[in-house]
Amino acid sequence: MAPVRRLHYISPGWESFCGVRRRIGSLLLLLLAVNMVGGQIRYSIPEEMKKSSVIGNVAQDLGLDLKRLSSGQARIVTGENVHYTELQKDKGILVVNERIDREQLCGDVTPCSFSFEMILENPMELHRITVEVLDINDHAPVFPNKDKPISFEISESAAVGVRFPLQSAQDLDVGQNALQNYILSPNDNFILKQHSNPDGRKYVEMVLQKPLDRERHPHFSLKLIAVDGGTPQRSGTVNIDVTVLDANDNIPVFNQSVYKASVLENTKTGTSIITVNATDADSGSYGHITYSLSEMKESAADIFRINENTGIIYVSGQIDYEKDKKYELRVEAKDHGGLTGTSKVIFDVID
Ligand SMILES: *[C@@H]1O[C@H](CO)[C@@H](O)[C@H](O)[C@H]1NC(C)=O
Ligand SMILES: *[C@@H]1O[C@H](CO)[C@@H](O)[C@H](O)[C@H]1NC(C)=O
Repeated sequence: MAPVRRLHYISPGWESFCGVRRRIGSLLLLLLAVNMVGGQIRYSIPEEMKKSSVIGNVAQDLGLDLKRLSSGQARIVTGENVHYTELQKDKGILVVNERIDREQLCGDVTPCSFSFEMILENPMELHRITVEVLDINDHAPVFPNKDKPISFEISESAAVGVRFPLQSAQDLDVGQNALQNYILSPNDNFILKQHSNPDGRKYVEMVLQKPLDRERHPHFSLKLIAVDGGTPQRSGTVNIDVTVLDANDNIPVFNQSVYKASVLENTKTGTSIITVNATDADSGSYGHITYSLSEMKESAADIFRINENTGIIYVSGQIDYEKDKKYELRVEAKDHGGLTGTSKVIFDVID
């Protein structure tokens, strides 16, 4: 806690009334009418000072001695919030009587102050005392649902520039101690865009800056950090979970551009010759492959079959060396999103 700071002191006496705000005017008239003397002092203290912390030396600042305070039965009168302070007559000081929470006293309003009068009798004197309560950075920015991550499911086909609104944080402090900025944890795909509402409140959006690729980066765990401008700086954090949804953006790919094998003439029907293999980086049905043989010469169509699930090519008819010495087949792998990859299979027939 910062020590007591008295930023402002308006010297007591009539001259101090010159230039004081309008609303003092009525008080002035009243004072003239009853022929009292009075002064005006203003103290600035940080909020949250301990009980009995000194707000100011009233006696000294008003040019009164302690005897006068006691003989005049100096006391604090009128004004709301007088319970916050206590006049210690024997020392001539004004001290904190009760914890002063600036947020409770003034909320968003700045500057935050409360005023009251100190009265002395014989002769009567009325002194106005204003205590300005300065904000300390006693609140951090807080996200309302900070324990629950903000979740997004975003298709990997989402266009660059798409925006995702994020939660705003709240900071009860004011001025520099209030929320100043948002930060998104470093990542390749998203940036933060900050906006201000007409009332000055900031809100943020996450903007897709680079296309997502589920196959490379299916999930992001990001952090949104809200920081204030106090010293020391305080911050609040909420997690952002991004699940990248699959789009059928990958074609099945065979592990070889050509498969070659030799097959003996008169190989029995049902004998497997070779296994082709294609893979698809997509998930679910977009990654699920079925194999087929295509564009075969008619002669080959009866002789070879492929297991559509395993990619095993087997003999299904009569291989006759005299007819064909070589078979060239096209093999396809199709995912359930309709994308197809192809490869070639060459069989040499051995006599
Ligand atoms: C195809 O290749 C993939 C990756 O290399 C492997 O996991 C899979 O078992 C293979 N499939 C067959 C039928 O050999
Ligand atoms: C391709 O996949 C097949 C079947 O799994 C395997 O027998 C073959 O060795 C693979 N080829 C390469 C180059 O990995």
